[in-house]
Amino acid sequence: MFVTLEGVDGAGKSTQAQLLAAALGPETLLLREPGGTPAGERLRGLLKDADVDLTPRAELMLFCAARAELVERVIRPALAAGRDVVCDRFVDSTVAYQGGARGIDRDLVRSLNAAAVGDCMPDRTIVLRLDGALAAGRAAGRCGSPISDRFESEGPAFQDRIAAEFERIAAAEPGRVVVVDASGIVEEVHARVLAALGPRRTEDR
Ligand code: TYD
Repeated sequence: MFVTLEGVDGAGKSTQAQLLAAALGPETLLLREPGGTPAGERLRGLLKDADVDLTPRAELMLFCAARAELVERVIRPALAAGRDVVCDRFVDSTVAYQGGARGIDRDLVRSLNAAAVGDCMPDRTIVLRLDGALAAGRAAGRCGSPISDRFESEGPAFQDRIAAEFERIAAAEPGRVVVVDASGIVEEVHARVLAALGPRRTEDR
């Protein structure tokens, strides 16, 4: 099973991705985007570098380039070997950040995403929904990485556009995307995430 976690900065994805991967068992592969391959990590470094000024389209292409590497070299082989894969962010982050928030044409975002992943789409995507002020508080409370700063420094209106885009994605693809309330303590949210995966996951472990 291929599961992705999505949400605004500070929604708690990374924590929930770790807990989910642990709950699915030791063979589960936990990944985060961008990264996970030698080229992907170099691209992550470039995208994190606050001194590198990128146009929105170049930013879009670099995220998709890192994703193409990750899909081809890591995700497809793992799924083919029967492993579960949990990925912290995937195609929907590009739709929400580069499409919804940066305003790049949706068709361009869609076609670059498709070029990067082909038919390797998640079986289930969990969107962690958290009120903007709460998310900003959580994001500010952790050690911010430069890449987060690049997006967090855009301010609350930018985060609101991202959140709205995730809601739109969830409404458009209810079979794949489930919105989970990310307020409350970590364990509560984890229980909601497991419930959102459906009975199969808890029964066959
Ligand atoms: P990261 O430090 O991993 O933050 P987070 O823990 O919030 O995921 O940085 C990822 C940042 O990159 C995050 O602000 C979202 C952004 N991003 C995009 O804009 N587009 C994408 O396609 C992806 C994967 C991430």
